[in-house]
Amino acid sequence: MNTLAGKHLVLGLSGGIACFKAAELCRALIKAGASVQVVMTDAAEHFMTAVTMQALSGRAVYTSQWDAREANNMAHINLSREADAIVVAPASADFLAKLLHGRADDLLSLMCLARPIDKVPLIVAPAMNREMWANPATQRNVAQLKADCVYVLDVGQGDQACGETGDGRMLEAQEILEDLQAFFAPKLLAGKTVLVTAGPTYEAIDPVRGITNLSSGKMGFAIARAARQAGADVTVIAGPVSLATPRGVRRIDVRSAQDMFCAVQTQVTQAQIFIATAAVADWRPHTQADQKIKKDAAGHTPQLAFIENPDILAGVAQSDRAQNGALFCVGFAAESHDLLAHATAKRLRKQVPLLVGNIGPSTFGQDDNALLLVDALGATELPRASKQDLADELIAEIARRL
Ligand code: C5P
Repeated sequence: MNTLAGKHLVLGLSGGIACFKAAELCRALIKAGASVQVVMTDAAEHFMTAVTMQALSGRAVYTSQWDAREANNMAHINLSREADAIVVAPASADFLAKLLHGRADDLLSLMCLARPIDKVPLIVAPAMNREMWANPATQRNVAQLKADCVYVLDVGQGDQACGETGDGRMLEAQEILEDLQAFFAPKLLAGKTVLVTAGPTYEAIDPVRGITNLSSGKMGFAIARAARQAGADVTVIAGPVSLATPRGVRRIDVRSAQDMFCAVQTQVTQAQIFIATAAVADWRPHTQADQKIKKDAAGHTPQLAFIENPDILAGVAQSDRAQNGALFCVGFAAESHDLLAHATAKRLRKQVPLLVGNIGPSTFGQDDNALLLVDALGATELPRASKQDLADELIAEIARRL
């Protein structure tokens, strides 16, 4: 389920250097399956040409309320009536002030004012210098716009085009895309707290060597993102992975199975849903050398002995909260063959209501996967698709079972 597929968005650009990010946003929205009609203010045209935005959106850009292409000469009415949402990115300080006062002296502000307020949401991505953002006038305007049901996205933090550093940058295109996907997602897990483990663990042998596995963490991160977009409060406990944190998800980085175990113990008391996607190492070296183990001139190889790691999921599933239904546990099984038999057996062994099987070698590190959901009633196949689409489906399946 891609919440932007088939949506028609009006993308408004007001004046600011962040207009260059609007070009990338336009592409990303179209790639996500939305159609995009661009509307630009005069000031925006100083930063980005309408030609560029036309080429990216595949539609002629509107810049004036006097546009003679519209038979009734009412671009502000026509454009706002056909939109599923109006997204103004970048929204300058001046544009926010205009919105606040209901001013309508250019096509973009006129269209925002003329939109049917209960049918066409207005989403703005502010972009400005840090002093302009921090100014009480802007903060007052933002607070009032929120009260007027305008959906105001966060600002980013960091280096600014003016050379200063602070709050007020426009979010990156991918961040805005995720926020828009979340905006349109059904809030199936509103009010729920979800804990997800993701990625591999790393079991040190000495300070420079260790044992790990090929899990990339992509499935777990996609699940965390899907749960967040479904309205949950989400924490992901991640082994060593190089993935960006999904928007709005709290992330705790850990290394070993024992670290993950401790982090889960602390976090799981607040959760109503625990989804264990991590590929936790079954064993760790019995001892960790303080110094790098050196090669032996006689050619002797080091003898490694192992001890078993705690089974995090099984432990949580046996807790009182899981047993009395206050905590819904979901396990994963990465198998190489006989998925149904192994997943069924693992569900019973771990005592979880839902076990998700997948074929490890054909999914580790990939962007797609196929899942087999096994519960007390039987098995359901989720055919091969992107991990994000599967994560969205899995969250819907979990919400149905709560
Ligand atoms: O026993 P196996 O490793 O195949 O079980 C997989 C499931 O158990 C996954 O959900 C995994 O996250 C979880 N697990 C765990 N702690 C372990 C081993 C596995 O939470 N030590």
